[in-house]
Amino acid sequence: MTGPVTGPVTGKGTLALVGPGRAGSTVALALAAQGYQVVGVAGRAVDAASTLAASACLDAEPRFVAQVGTGAMVVVIGTPDAAIEATAEAIAPSLEPDALVFHLAGSRGLEVFAELRARRPDVRIGALHPLQSLPSTSAGLERLPGSWAAIAGDAEIDRIAELLEVRAFRVADGDRELYHAAAVVASNHLVALLGQVERLAAAAGVPFDAFAPLARASVENAFDLGPRAALTGPVARGDLATVEGHLAAMDAGERDAYRALAREAARLAERRDHALDRLLDDLRTLQPPDGEENPSS
Ligand SMILES: NC(=O)c1ccc[n+]([C@@H]2O[C@H](COP(=O)([O-])OP(=O)(O)OC[C@H]3O[C@@H](n4cnc5c(N)ncnc54)[C@H](OP(=O)(O)O)[C@@H]3O)[C@@H](O)[C@H]2O)c1
Repeated sequence: MTGPVTGPVTGKGTLALVGPGRAGSTVALALAAQGYQVVGVAGRAVDAASTLAASACLDAEPRFVAQVGTGAMVVVIGTPDAAIEATAEAIAPSLEPDALVFHLAGSRGLEVFAELRARRPDVRIGALHPLQSLPSTSAGLERLPGSWAAIAGDAEIDRIAELLEVRAFRVADGDRELYHAAAVVASNHLVALLGQVERLAAAAGVPFDAFAPLARASVENAFDLGPRAALTGPVARGDLATVEGHLAAMDAGERDAYRALAREAARLAERRDHALDRLLDDLRTLQPPDGEENPSS
């Protein structure tokens, strides 16, 4: 396939982006602000809206994936996790010797580059996962400095992290799944839990916003004091009557999550409390109000 490549630009400080979405465009823009010249952008299609938008704001040429590496000494892969491996293979022929190719995924390590490594042993590989939510490039550019990032691979990735002003830590491929699980809990599960707060609050006729200062202070406390020291509430105090009251009052569909987290709170507080265990188990079979089906029966 031929593409609109206008000729190689060589030398350090040149960059290409494949996968011009939220994370890839944020990282490319941040590196451009540090003096990188962005020479090419490739997306799902050379004329896709995201490819054209990123090329315009990065002042770079839209390219076909197979040609994106030409003239670039750094290639950022910002495709979805599942497409990284195939993308790395697709860009292999266009890569400059000694170029650094890195992806941004949290769930994948350097194993995704196995085929690329075999085909192009003369290029360097890495990974840099910003441990931050990047919902747009403007929010991303604001949030990136000061965030942490999991890095792996070639030593130049440390320099890239420095330029992005992120605090880097290395994660080995074997620890990658656990690391990413922690990130998912810290982000997605925390949000899912706030979904339960919203539902319980609504059932009590209380605005969700009223819980924002409490939730923010609890997160701050957990990081300032450590989760164990920050834990307060009925489970930490061993106040089983209150836990029982909560479970009895709430919709049956809310109980599983409440019980699971009550157990986690007991574990964190190191309360080996058989009465609590029994209570949480007994309430599994709590009779629902008339007409409502008990999901655990
Ligand atoms: N966003 C975050 O908060 C965040 C934070 C840290 C790390 N990351 C990581 O960053 C990576 C990208 O995530 P994202 O949130 O930026 O996703 P995204 O906004 O959906 O961007 C993905 C981009 O890749 C393009 N694309 C998809 N398949 C492709 C292919 N086969 N070849 C070339 N381009 C392709 C998409 O094109 P279209 O525009 O046409 O769909 C889109 O521009 C993931 O590995 C993710 O884990 C994301």
